[in-house]
Amino acid sequence: MVIMSCTFETEIAFGMNRRPRRNRKSKAVRNLVEETSLSVKDLIFPMFLVDGSNKKIEVNSMPGIFRFSVDEMLHEIEYCMNLGISAFDVFPAYPERLKNAIASESYNPDTFYLKALRQIKDKFPEICLMSDVALDPYSSDGHDGLVKDGKILNDETLEILGLMSLAQADAGVDIIGPSDMMDGRVGFIREMLDQNGYLDTSIMSYTAKYASAFYGPFRDALDSAPKFGDKKTYQMNPANSQEALIEADLDMEEGADFLMVKPALSYLDVIKLLHDNYPVPIAAYNVSGEYSMVKAASQKGWIDGQRAMREVLLSIKRAGAKVILTYFAKEYAEFVK
Ligand code: PBG
Repeated sequence: MVIMSCTFETEIAFGMNRRPRRNRKSKAVRNLVEETSLSVKDLIFPMFLVDGSNKKIEVNSMPGIFRFSVDEMLHEIEYCMNLGISAFDVFPAYPERLKNAIASESYNPDTFYLKALRQIKDKFPEICLMSDVALDPYSSDGHDGLVKDGKILNDETLEILGLMSLAQADAGVDIIGPSDMMDGRVGFIREMLDQNGYLDTSIMSYTAKYASAFYGPFRDALDSAPKFGDKKTYQMNPANSQEALIEADLDMEEGADFLMVKPALSYLDVIKLLHDNYPVPIAAYNVSGEYSMVKAASQKGWIDGQRAMREVLLSIKRAGAKVILTYFAKEYAEFVK
């Protein structure tokens, strides 16, 4: 009794007229003051495609994520559409025997990736279908560009990127995702698309893509790790953010419809930087390693995986990304439902 009145008098004596806790006092008030909202509509679901049929193989390092043959992928897409997901990014896993130094399988019209893209878009014309433009899944060197004497070539690679983009646009892709960090590729691809009548095909540029350790599980999923060296002469140094402004300036000039930052979590400052400086929608790629970290810790019982997933996605949105590419897309949509 004495203690209670004492506490009360101390508070009055403080005279605090601003108490931020008042805006957190109930769920209803918290809802009113919530600044960031995350919707299933913000998400793009990246998926891995393999050749053949009847295949659904879990990726070792990515629990809950599978490599699908196209028939199985169509089922998965339909399921996700019923959960409200309307955008999908498909990445192909090629067997070693189809890879070569010039990545020629990438624009072969009969290749399983292009045929699958066409089938997906034919079956679900209302979805937004995205694809990846880089040499690495098709290259016997495992690099994103042509290689000569151990060097990754820039200008010489552009033509193949252009052919690949045309083939994907022809298959019905809505958004092309040049993911290689080559110079001049957005402008080159834009021109190739326009000259061939694909005026409505969008480009989401991997604007600030860092040479990151967080791509490990993705390279397992696609068997696409570089055969020698690393990607540091084309992907950005994790120490840099000013350089992202140069990349973004160029992508804007070259006609990119979206600017992307990748990975997301270690680069939230870069997402914010691009958001504050460019009027186009900013996308962020919540990459494989970021997904696997949450999954691994949650499987060990060290963190609450579902809460961590929501916090991760919200933080990316709060930093300024309008669009999030995430392997959590399906799980998040299931949670919301
Ligand atoms: C290939 C590409 C990569 C990713 C998307 N496109 C890997 C790389 O650059 O080595 C990574 C995606 C992920 O880790 O989820 N150009």
